[in-house]
Amino acid sequence: MLATVIDDPNTDLRDTVKYSDLIEYRFDLFSEFDFALLKNRIMPSIFTHRNAPLSLLEKLAHFKPEYMDIEHGYPLYFYERIQKISPTTKLIVSYHNYDEVPCLKSLFEEMKKPFDCIYKIASMANNSLDLLRMMLFLKESENLMTVIAMGEYGRPSRVMGKVLGNAIDYCSMGESMPGLGQISLAELHDIYNYCSLNEKTEFYGLIGDPINRSPGHIFHNRLFKSNEQNSVYLKFRVDREELSGFIEGIKALPFRGLSVTMPLKEELESGRAINTVNLEDGDVTFTNTDGKGALDVIEKRGFVRGKRVLIWGAGGSAKAIYEEAINRGAEVFVINRTKSKAVEVAGKRGFGLHEMQGSYDIFINTTSVQSEYPIELLSHTLIMDINHNPETKLLQDARKKGCSVILGREMFERQAFLQQKFWLSRSRIYINQ
Ligand code: ATR
Repeated sequence: MLATVIDDPNTDLRDTVKYSDLIEYRFDLFSEFDFALLKNRIMPSIFTHRNAPLSLLEKLAHFKPEYMDIEHGYPLYFYERIQKISPTTKLIVSYHNYDEVPCLKSLFEEMKKPFDCIYKIASMANNSLDLLRMMLFLKESENLMTVIAMGEYGRPSRVMGKVLGNAIDYCSMGESMPGLGQISLAELHDIYNYCSLNEKTEFYGLIGDPINRSPGHIFHNRLFKSNEQNSVYLKFRVDREELSGFIEGIKALPFRGLSVTMPLKEELESGRAINTVNLEDGDVTFTNTDGKGALDVIEKRGFVRGKRVLIWGAGGSAKAIYEEAINRGAEVFVINRTKSKAVEVAGKRGFGLHEMQGSYDIFINTTSVQSEYPIELLSHTLIMDINHNPETKLLQDARKKGCSVILGREMFERQAFLQQKFWLSRSRIYINQ
């Protein structure tokens, strides 16, 4: 069940009625309120007033809401009193921790009540492992439960919760409340296909940091929807130190695949950049679709065999593109701020930023630099920039100069499509290995 949280009594409720099952009135956030309005409610409701005295909770209970949220920690007679006033109201005993995730097992023991209710645990996830810990707790719980990991790290829990058994999921009407990691009603439906998620849905996701700018969730979820595949793709902020714990942790959850972005691409297997992980019954396999994705979109404009290709940057993407371009018969050079890394990738064809001599046919920026570039543009050159920003200085100047340009978006979509192929049929595709 999905509840839309209302923090303003004047909110337009048309979408709420159409797309969610419940409305949660956060009376404590209302600046003013006419209680008379509660008599003719337009849909099933949760009444919530944090830190309210018993007298106020009693007043609310007289309106006989379908659900009433009462914070954990009140004396038992509080809850019993509310039940007596409105026996049809289902109580939600809720716990909020805006700092950290406590020991969930002992917390739950403390929260347990001698009557039927829904337990809601919302805690601030301070890293991706906190999120996994909470989701695993939800999956293994035998009680009616809602578990929400708050904050940026916890954001995926807003979608995972439905799959793993949340009694009620919560979303915001418009812009989500800052810091809580809430997802809006529109985003849940339009991007994450919330209505079609169920206990059989499989998880895919992007891991890395930063992840904000990646359009992966839009692209992959759209593809899942059009293929009628029961899967959802989420973005997980994962740091280097958390990577091994994260990969281990997701084995207990229904994960099937991951996309990997910086700074993790070179952390999964030594000596090799990885951007795709397949998970199957505890078996983990890797591939990289960056190289093939980039070269496929370049070769839509003409074959690279015999062409001189210059790559700027020597990170994971550069390595993958370098290998694929070599495989397809190009003569490939790498320039990089740190020359030694360019040499590591391309041997004697690796250079410092301004050391490269001679012309080239194709120039590819694999760095995240958007406001400058280290070459002189030649009009016959094909320019590709793997940044998601279509207006980097390089692309703007290249257009002015009359060069053909390829945007990062096009490469992104090709490599993401190849990721889906790898996840769906690992055996049929062999990329960049
Ligand atoms: P990815 O794995 O996605 O390719 P990465 O490993 O972070 O990303 O690689 C980034 C590349 O961009 C690196 O080669 C980096 O240069 P260094 O090897 O000298 O670190 C390059 N890069 C990043 N920021 C840069 C900047 N401001 N100027 C020049 N090069 C930069």
